[in-house]
Amino acid sequence: MNAITIAVDYGAITANVATLRAHAPTAAVMAVVKADAYGHGLVEAGRAARSGGAAWLGVAQPLEALELRAAGDTDRVLTWLYGSEVPAAALIAADIDVSVGSHEVLEAVATAAHAHANGPRARVHIAVDTGLGREGVTLADLPALLDAAREAQRSRNVHVVGMWSHFAWADQPGHPTIDLQAAAFRAALALAEDAGLALEVRHLANSAATLTRPDLHFDMVRPGIAVYGLPPVADPAGENFGLTPAMSVTSTLALVKRVGAGQGVSYGHEYVTDRATILGLVTAGYADGVFRGAGGRAHVGIGGERYVIAGRVCMDQFVVDLGPDATASPGDTVTLIGVGGPTAREWADAVGTIDYEVVCRFGGLRAKESV
Ligand SMILES: Cc1ncc(COP(=O)(O)O)c(C=O)c1O
Repeated sequence: MNAITIAVDYGAITANVATLRAHAPTAAVMAVVKADAYGHGLVEAGRAARSGGAAWLGVAQPLEALELRAAGDTDRVLTWLYGSEVPAAALIAADIDVSVGSHEVLEAVATAAHAHANGPRARVHIAVDTGLGREGVTLADLPALLDAAREAQRSRNVHVVGMWSHFAWADQPGHPTIDLQAAAFRAALALAEDAGLALEVRHLANSAATLTRPDLHFDMVRPGIAVYGLPPVADPAGENFGLTPAMSVTSTLALVKRVGAGQGVSYGHEYVTDRATILGLVTAGYADGVFRGAGGRAHVGIGGERYVIAGRVCMDQFVVDLGPDATASPGDTVTLIGVGGPTAREWADAVGTIDYEVVCRFGGLRAKESV
């Protein structure tokens, strides 16, 4: 018996990408499948996203881009997170678009492309830091990088095809940094044009901006979390923007037993029964991705009812107080996330994090679960 079962509805991912395309009808969609597709499975989620119409897939790590190719993906893929150690030759040979946000990375890419002057050109997207303070070249340093990129395009088998940036606060619609970053991005695009670079694809919008700022879609949107059905902003219409959560997490009731009032539950007895009741033992713990801090805060679903986790989460198990009249039996399904239980967002709120971390964490255990 598995301690925990992580199921991914790939049909939901396909449908979500189709829905995101409808939210951004004038732009291409790059489905962000970094970090093993936010725990949903890189290759399978990538395939599902392609079926929904994702013209592009995006990953942070170069090895994930190469893994997509090894699995047979042949369409456009962009990778963006590395220093000068970037495996540029392998990426170019695999026809993968690469992000460049520094002279060091440009040099590594141009050197690899030039070494195979008769091979494919390196397709480069310039990464601009418009205010996130993370990856990318600052606007102040952009002109020099554009000059170097144009020179590489002229003489070193490089083709500058894109420019991109990333938002800091898009999940807070109306936050003043959104328009400031958009203005900085437009200024960066103008500099690229001044440098004589004809860009094929300009991209800025993550999930939040895809759903709330149609004016900032440019040529392509780059949603991640929304692909998995978890929009980072509330839908004013209360319809989750037409998206369906793809991941569900379930476990099993291993034991059901009657106890008296005053029974301490789990290590440290942080929960004490206030009446005679029935306890249920669930075979999932922090080794399975259940946050240790979830005791007394997060709920699970059993038989259509919600129960708070009673006492501390242990390494491989936790307990719920089913109440004196419970009819649950050993073997019953316990829904940690999914229909009949909480959403990933509710889990995140309970333990003080974001649903991104919840799905990455449970998803990281999919390999173990499938053994
Ligand atoms: C560069 C880049 N683009 C797009 C995304 C997708 O963001 P989100 O999952 O908020 O849509 C990410 C993820 O953080 C990212 O790092």
